[in-house]
Order: sequence, then C-alpha cells, then structure tokens
Amino acid sequence: MSEATSDIQNRADIDVLVRAFYDRLLHDDRISYLFEDVKGEHLEEHFVILCDFWESVLFFTGQYKRNTMLKHLSLHDKHGLTAQHFQIWLGFFNETIDALFIGEKSKLAKERANSIAVIMQMKIKEMEQWK
Ligand code: HEM
Repeated sequence: MSEATSDIQNRADIDVLVRAFYDRLLHDDRISYLFEDVKGEHLEEHFVILCDFWESVLFFTGQYKRNTMLKHLSLHDKHGLTAQHFQIWLGFFNETIDALFIGEKSKLAKERANSIAVIMQMKIKEMEQWK
C-alpha cells in the first residue's frame, strides 16, 4: 500500500517525481537503452524540460513549447518503440506517482500520460503505413 498523503503541489514535487521515475526507467534493461542520448551529462537538461512539460500540464504555466510527438517519432525511427516499451513506461510512471503522491493532480498526471501514450502509438502506426 502507498504511504503517500499529499498531492503534487508545485515544481519541486514534479522534480521529485521525475527523478524517481527515471531512477526506475534507467535501471531496467528492457527500456534504459532508449535513453542513451539523454543519459549522463544531458540528464539534468532533460529533467528541466520534463519539469517544464509537467508543470505546463498540471499547473497551466505554458512554458513548455516543444514538440513531444516528433521526439518520440524519431525515437521510434531509430530504435523501434513497441507496445511493451509503452507498458513498461506507463507502469513505472503510475507506480512512481502512487508511491509518492495522492490526489487530483496525481490522477490528472496519470490520465494525461496514458492518453499521450495512446496518441503516440497511433502516430507511430500511421508513420509505419507511409514507409
Ligand atoms: C515507450 C515509451 C517512451 C519512451 C521510451 C520515451 C523516451 C524518451 C526519450 C529517450 C526522450 C528524450 C528524447 C530526446 O531528447 O532526444 C523523451 C522525451 C520526452 N518524453 Fe518520452 N518516452 C516515452 C513515452 C512518453 C510519454 C507517454 C510521454 C507523455 C507524457 C512522454 C513525455 C516526454 C516528454 C515531455 C519529453 C521531452 C521532449 C522534449 O525534448 O521536448 N514520453 N522520451
């Protein structure tokens, strides 16, 4: 059972969430190799971008203006993203949130991640059809 008692309230909480989430992703051989380009010296920059993204999603700050979809389409082009990769990603994301936070924003984060994952997989399929 989760020990969490409070919701995601600000960027500092998002930072905690992102780091704990990536700790899981980067330690699982089934998915960690996909993060080769952001591991090491680029990891801190990547965390800033992810915090911008989640702050925009959860608190409507609007500072994330990049193209998430395109990044993942090129990741797919390079490595081939599978349904299992998405399952692992979402599983870790949901587990990390549930371990640390509870409440409306936590629920919203899980819903958003899930719907973006669905759209990403649709776009990937579309892209495959044009090959
Ligand atoms: C199979 C599942 C996924 C994998 C393996 C994955 C992997 C990655 C990698 C390697 C990057 C860095 C790309 C780069 O900078 O070149 C990235 C960026 C990012 N990912 Fe994912 N991702 C996955 C799913 C998702 C989902 C479902 C979301 C939805 C919330 C998401 C949100 C983001 C965001 C916001 C960035 C930053 C993009 C930017 O640079 O603006 N990812 N992801």
